[in-house]
Amino acid sequence: MPLHVRIVIVISIALLVVNATLLIINVGATIDSHAQYARSYEIKRSLSTFQSVITAAESGQRGYLLTGQTGYLEPYYVAMRSWRSELERLRTLTADNAARQKDIADLESFTAAAISRLKATISRSPQPGPNGTADVAGTEQATATMDRVRGIVDRMMAEEDARIEAQRREVLRDLLVAGGLALLTTVVTVAVLIGLNKLLRKYVRDRETAENAMLQANQALNEQVEQRTAELTELSQHLIRVSEEEKARLARELHDTLGSNLTAINMDLNWIQRRLPEGVREVKERLQRALKMLGETVELKHEVIEGLRPSHLDNLGLAFAMRSHCREFTRRTGLPCELDVQEDFDDLDPAWSIAFYRIAQESLTNIAKHAQASKVRIVLAREDGGVRLRIIDDGVGVAEEALSKPKSHGVVGMRERMRQMGGRFQIRKPEEGTGTIVEAFIPATNAAALSA
Ligand SMILES: Nc1ncnc2c1ncn2[C@@H]1O[C@H](COP(=O)(O)OP(=O)(O)OP(=O)(O)O)[C@@H](O)[C@H]1O
Ligand SMILES: [Mg+2]
Repeated sequence: MPLHVRIVIVISIALLVVNATLLIINVGATIDSHAQYARSYEIKRSLSTFQSVITAAESGQRGYLLTGQTGYLEPYYVAMRSWRSELERLRTLTADNAARQKDIADLESFTAAAISRLKATISRSPQPGPNGTADVAGTEQATATMDRVRGIVDRMMAEEDARIEAQRREVLRDLLVAGGLALLTTVVTVAVLIGLNKLLRKYVRDRETAENAMLQANQALNEQVEQRTAELTELSQHLIRVSEEEKARLARELHDTLGSNLTAINMDLNWIQRRLPEGVREVKERLQRALKMLGETVELKHEVIEGLRPSHLDNLGLAFAMRSHCREFTRRTGLPCELDVQEDFDDLDPAWSIAFYRIAQESLTNIAKHAQASKVRIVLAREDGGVRLRIIDDGVGVAEEALSKPKSHGVVGMRERMRQMGGRFQIRKPEEGTGTIVEAFIPATNAAALSA
């Protein structure tokens, strides 16, 4: 992946992380504000309960003093029992605020004072009621103290309201800032992702183009290699054909010219020998020697011609030619050569015959040169709808790398011959023991070439 694409990916991941962090911070602040709100409302609720408790005490005392009915004293007694517990609640709720603690301490002392004054007015008014006597001065004093208490409560309420308002504003501001930032990071992230998408698409397109170009170059190269291989195969097959034709032409030429010349010389020398007078012993001896050498030369000519183009092959068939070559091989090398062939193969296509013969020839040469074998066996048979030749030795075996030696042409030539015939060729190790098996097979796809 190119560097700029990686950088863009890293940037978008970083933006997403920033966005998530802001969200977490914002949620934390909101939870915090919510707790503050709840506490402020709780304080307000407590303050208002406290206020109603003390107001109820005051009204109860007044009701009693004005009417003389003891039923009015009920809320007064309730207030006497509960005002301290309400203050304790407030104290706990504002435990972390020193100013509030001070206010609550003031509330406590003023409320205690006001309550004891209320109590005193009740005890100092033995006959309350519309026609009775009431402690008016004490009641006014108590009311004045209660007013101070109410003043503190009102101030505390107002302060809590102000605090709630400030918190509301703060939350709103936080929300706006966080929302703005989240919107901004989202917009930037989306823009980055769009850019990234474009970059990736371009990257994929570029890669596809490069891959296509490489594929085309490869294809062109393959085609070139195939064409060259076909040309080389054609050339090598042409060379094999030309070489066979040339050898056959040379053999014919040698046979016709050298052969007839040697025969003529032989006839003339014999004629001279018959007419030589008595007493020319030395001339006779020389003539004898010349005739012997002539015989050897005729034999040599025969061998050379056989090597070039085995006459047996054309006249007596592949089996005979192979048998004779086998015999010659044993004579030359001393290695026993067994030929396993059930028929003459004299009706085989001449092109097949020469191909099989040359393969047997090269294999026997290789065995003599490389195998260090103790015996050789040649099997020629019709098998699997074709003709199969196998040359088997029990020598050292052929190493894998030996078959691709640059200066070795025997194996390459054998393989080419089989390819030319549409056949198969292989050199392999036997399943058991050591040695080498050279195997050549030509399928009888051309029915005219084989008479089964
Ligand atoms: N029957 C065999 N036993 C052991 N090794 C063999 C046998 N036949 C071939 N080889 C090995 O395979 C190699 C290739 O054989 P190939 O006939 O192609 O070349 P060559 O005989 O070395 O040379 P050339 O045939 O060109 O004169 C040989 O050099 C030899 O090492
Ligand atoms: Mg060879």
